[in-house]
Amino acid sequence: MTKRRSIVVANWKMFMGPSDGEHLAHNIVDICQSFSSVDVVICPPLVSLTKVGSVIEGTRIKLGAQNIFWEPDEGPFTGEVSAQMIAGWCEYVIVGHSERRQHFEETDDIVNKKVKAGLQHGLKVIICVGESLVENNAGDTKDIIEYQVRSAYQGVLPNDALQTVVAYEPIWAIGTGLASTPYAANRVCAKYVRGTLDRIFGYEVSQAIRIQYGGSINRNNISEFIVQVDIDGVLIGGSSLSADEFAAILHVIDR
Ligand code: 13P
Repeated sequence: MTKRRSIVVANWKMFMGPSDGEHLAHNIVDICQSFSSVDVVICPPLVSLTKVGSVIEGTRIKLGAQNIFWEPDEGPFTGEVSAQMIAGWCEYVIVGHSERRQHFEETDDIVNKKVKAGLQHGLKVIICVGESLVENNAGDTKDIIEYQVRSAYQGVLPNDALQTVVAYEPIWAIGTGLASTPYAANRVCAKYVRGTLDRIFGYEVSQAIRIQYGGSINRNNISEFIVQVDIDGVLIGGSSLSADEFAAILHVIDR
């Protein structure tokens, strides 16, 4: 099995409006041009997609959205944006981030609909899964992650599954400065995420799908995570808001 290509995704969350986003994208392009062995994706807020998209056009950096609605095409859904609309601009979309599950009551069923909507329009879908601190402490991580993975891929065909990435983000590690340990994160990615993908799609497909870790990644801890066999990249929040910090992380992964 050839090594899976690393993928690093910047999730800017609700930071970086159009002019700040444009500025940061310029800085990232300046510093990050030379990285060749890693896929780099920037996911700005919706309103910044066009500006950031035009800055990174012609570079190796890809554009992603942070969310889509579950209706794939169009309709009377005030304030929402569909996969069809996003597909004109973006190559990637993040679906099922824990902040959306938590603040917008996105259920596993909704996440599954969004996954299918994205795939239907040719987007590469980054599917987020992760357990809470309470669930972790109760020893429920295995059940939660396996359930979230199974639900997200309900009705997805193996060929389409190859267009997805899974991001394992333990909720208690997001924005807290308290990352999981590389060993524990790799165990979840290998056993509960890839193991479940193996049972759904078989060995070949499960080995080809990339799995990221996310949660308090920075330039100091990245090297320990990226060497783990089943961690194929990272989904980065806070540390992606500084071009220097982001570049330092990429530098470690690219060597
Ligand atoms: P932090 O890197 O800020 O912990 O955020 C992780 C995350 O939620 C990325 O989607």
